[in-house]
Amino acid sequence: MSSCSQIRPLSDHMLAHQQLLELFEQHQCALISLEIERACELLADFTRHLRMHRDGEEEFVLPVYGALDLKLEGGPVEFFQSEHEKLGWWLGEMRGEVNELLEEGRGRGLEPRDVLPLLDRQATFKHLLDHHDKREANILYPAMDRELNAKQVGAIWLQLDGHEAAVRASWS
Ligand SMILES: [Fe+2]
Ligand SMILES: [Fe+2]
Repeated sequence: MSSCSQIRPLSDHMLAHQQLLELFEQHQCALISLEIERACELLADFTRHLRMHRDGEEEFVLPVYGALDLKLEGGPVEFFQSEHEKLGWWLGEMRGEVNELLEEGRGRGLEPRDVLPLLDRQATFKHLLDHHDKREANILYPAMDRELNAKQVGAIWLQLDGHEAAVRASWS
């Protein structure tokens, strides 16, 4: 059993979810304000943060979770991997769509109605993100904190922190 009360629980890794939502909200606010270049930059920022978080989970969390083979309802490791894949697909889609809007705006002035189709499409992405967040919050991270001991959790944190530091260093 875990002695996680003395260490940082692995569920703290989900603090990034809130930061990601805030970044996406800023992107959508820029869209609504018709600041499309700014919206592009913010989407790029959101994308790299989401990829960093997802890659950390793929490399250091999900392999350990999968090996536990807990057979939890709604918790096969493939579900998490498949949602990560879908989120990745959406990142590419949204980038393309914002770029199209940027091009359109260069030819003529954009009106608020021009961003509505993209906002509607993004609602589907946000639904997927929310669904994924709930699956991790209700199944993945509670299971990891319940099943792993302090040493195992500490080892995963070391890897996650190292990964994040390396990715952030590559941005500058
Ligand atoms: Fe996550
Ligand atoms: Fe995830």
